[in-house]
Amino acid sequence: MTRISVTVDGVDYSDEVEPRTLLVHYLREQLGKTGTVVGCDTSNCGACTVHLDGRSVKSCNVLAVQADGHDVTTIEGLAVDGELHPMQRAFHECHALQCGYCTPGMIMQAIDVLTENPHPTEQEIRVGLEGNLCRCTGYHNIVKAVQQAAGTSSASVAAADGAQS
Ligand code: FES
Ligand code: FES
Repeated sequence: MTRISVTVDGVDYSDEVEPRTLLVHYLREQLGKTGTVVGCDTSNCGACTVHLDGRSVKSCNVLAVQADGHDVTTIEGLAVDGELHPMQRAFHECHALQCGYCTPGMIMQAIDVLTENPHPTEQEIRVGLEGNLCRCTGYHNIVKAVQQAAGTSSASVAAADGAQS
């Protein structure tokens, strides 16, 4: 066993883990952070996406020991004082989920997309989300939600155009 110290959703933890323990299993089984889910065992689906020091990673592809000394944010750490993160709100308002299984990872990845590029085109959003699979194929509304969160949806673009004319 190896001792790790990690900050998860703003709380410091110090735990013994086996060197082979995956970050996603540490989060779910030792910390009870079941908002982060496992959708495959091949690093393909992105359902397990979390932020490690502010950038997205597939937590089934990271060992818990690799998070030692680092800062992890899960879907459960996004809301502040009961207020949804703007990306969570956009997913809700755009009906960007069906079964919801992909949603935690999709939201974490979508935030990373906007961190990298605050004003992406639709194509850039689609490329940014290509590592996250939605088995319900709800991609259309997912892209709309990211556009809304970025302020680049056609409605907000039209409003901005109107304000300028
Ligand atoms: S569970 Fe991590 S990519 Fe599918
Ligand atoms: S909403 Fe069902 S997998 Fe995406």
